[in-house]
This record gives sequence, C-alpha cells and structure tokens, in this order.
Amino acid sequence: MAYLKPDKPEKVYVPALRAAKEKGEKLVCLTAYDYPTARIVDEAGVELILVGDSMGNVIHGYGNTIPVTLDEILSATKAVKRGANRALIVADMPYGSYHTGDNKAVRNALKLMKDGGAEAVKLEGGRNRARLVKRLVDEEIPVMAHVGLTPQSVHKLGGYRVQGKTAEAAQILIEDAKTLEDAGAFAIVLELVPREIAEIVTGELKISTVGIGAGSGCDVQVLVLHDLIGFTFGRQPRFVRQYANVSQVITDAITHWMEDVRSGNYPSEQESYGLPEEVDLKTLKSIVS
Ligand code: KIV
Repeated sequence: MAYLKPDKPEKVYVPALRAAKEKGEKLVCLTAYDYPTARIVDEAGVELILVGDSMGNVIHGYGNTIPVTLDEILSATKAVKRGANRALIVADMPYGSYHTGDNKAVRNALKLMKDGGAEAVKLEGGRNRARLVKRLVDEEIPVMAHVGLTPQSVHKLGGYRVQGKTAEAAQILIEDAKTLEDAGAFAIVLELVPREIAEIVTGELKISTVGIGAGSGCDVQVLVLHDLIGFTFGRQPRFVRQYANVSQVITDAITHWMEDVRSGNYPSEQESYGLPEEVDLKTLKSIVS
C-alpha cells in the first residue's frame, strides 16, 4: 500500500502535545474561522488552530455561543483546513451537537472530521461527558475536553465568572479533569480558573492543559484571535492582552478610501481600464449618441 499525499514533515499531530509536555515546551493555539486567518495563523507558526464556537461572539454577533450550529462550524472548518498546512485543527462541537445521545454525537463529530477536515474535536463538560469522550476516542476521534468556565453553560452558570474558586469547586474541577484524561481526552481546556488550580491540574495530568484565563502554568495557551488583534467590540476580560488594533486599521483604511472617492482621487487611471488604441473613441461616441 502506498501512502499518498504525505503531510508536511513538520505537521502537528495529536502525539506532539504529549511530547512537548514531557519536554516542558509550551505550545500555542489560536482560533480561526476562515481561510485567510487560518493561513496567517498557520504560517505564523501556532501548533494548534481551534475552530471555536467563540465564532458566535466574534463573527456572528450572537452575543454568546449557544446559537452556533454544526453547519456553521463545519463550513468554517472546511475553510480553515484549506488555509492551514501545519497546525493541528480542532473543531468545536457546538451546543446541541452532542447533547441528544452518543450516537448522534459520534455522527456529528465524524462529520467534522470527514467533511470538514478536522483532526480532533472539542467539547465542554466534566465527568458528565466522560462516557461520550471514551466513545468518541474508541471511534478514532481525538477529543479535547473543556472544563472551568464552559460558555455553553452560560445560562446555568448565570454569567462568565471564574470557576473553581472554593476548595470544594476546585476539587470537583481537578477530579473532572482526571476523569476526562482517564476517558481518553488528549488535552483539556481550562477556562477562567485560578492559576493555582490550573497549575495543580497541569501537574496531575499527563495530557496537556490548554489555558485561557488560567495563568501561565498550563502546557498550551489559547486565545481568541480577534481578541489578540483588537478586532472585537466592548470590554475585554482581564486575561486578554491586545497586540494590535485591527479595528482601527480597518476604520482608517475605509475612511481614507471614502475621502479619496469623494474627492475624485480614486480610482486613478492606473486603477481603471482604457479602450485599446485601435478603437476610435470619436466614432464610438457618434454611434452611441
Ligand atoms: O470557542 C472557543 O474559542 C473556545 C476557546 C475560548 C477555548 O472554546
């Protein structure tokens, strides 16, 4: 049997995370939801790309992740797959896509892998998802788990707050993380948890922790790209460090272009097309008039 179409030698696969953790190397993950950002993020050198349901907040303007559909994630995953050569592509399972039975969840995850080109899926929840994680892993679907603040539970939690702040809540969180590791997850997102708890979880687990708002002790750091580059609206959570102001760059470009159009400075002759020399304009005008 010939193994055709090999990936790039440096392509990141799931086992790379375990290897990096063992060597104490930090990895990075960013979100992407379309072809151009996937290309930029991949070529910049991140190891993981998450096609996150945060698209509900940052590109669809839903205000939360609840309305995001499997089709929206699928379409975004396809575009990201076309743009990324090296990074491991993880597709988020949106709310409702893994809540109505394990068989349905497997079918939806397979869709993201087979049709979308995802190389792993992510889903939210603690011990209540352990059986499903095991089933998915048994079906050859790598799973990234997600505990702490789980945005799909926003209504149950009553807002976006730091999780695991009491000794009891921290203990539950640590046990959940271990249970998900035992179920076969290859990594686990820790979102909005105290850094001390994230450090304990990272130390206790063999799989990688992927931190967002969980301090510097996690094995992998993840951020929403739009937050990092300043392409969002409103107040950002304290863990976001904004490295650029893309909204301002876009506004400046549009403002400049509008000024040029209104003053007759755009388009110039070089930015438009003339008739070929052999066409006599006078004759043409006499025909049309
Ligand atoms: O959807 C997303 O972008 C996420 C990250 C915040 C981890 O789940």
